[in-house]
Amino acid sequence: MTAIAISGLAIVLGIFLIKAGKRDAHKKAMITASVFALIFVFLYVLRNFLQAQGLIPVGKYEGPNKSLFLFILWSHTLLAIINFPLAIITLRYAFKGLFGKHKKIAPITAFVWIYVAITGWLIFYFMKFQNQ
Ligand code: HEM
Repeated sequence: MTAIAISGLAIVLGIFLIKAGKRDAHKKAMITASVFALIFVFLYVLRNFLQAQGLIPVGKYEGPNKSLFLFILWSHTLLAIINFPLAIITLRYAFKGLFGKHKKIAPITAFVWIYVAITGWLIFYFMKFQNQ
């Protein structure tokens, strides 16, 4: 969960940096965001594997806001999947120096990325405080 938060914050920071004209710092922030997103995916897959083996318990939401929770969970999951190709395309344009194209797709990628990070935290809190 910390990894997804760092990743989301690095994206926000990266946007501020590019708006301030700091291209090199923007690049570093976005690469950091990508590395932490990969760490998150690795931990996520590991957790699912351990759950499948029965080594750690599977979480389930049984709280009062079930439909809201399911909406957040599904939109999060769907956009997280979409975010992967978006991130690859955005990074590729940047590394090829195609900044015109990068600039077109980057706001969409950044928006989806931040949405995924925030809803990731929301899901975590929904699960944690569902019985209160
Ligand atoms: C997935 C990672 C990235 C995201 C989400 C991202 C996002 C953005 C955003 C939102 C903008 C501003 C667009 C605007 O002002 O309308 C931007 C511009 C820019 N980005 Fe990125 N960026 C990423 C990675 C990179 C990397 C790795 C580099 C360098 C190799 C880079 C270089 C630039 C440059 C030079 C601009 C300014 C383009 C211009 O004004 O002509 N970005 N990026």
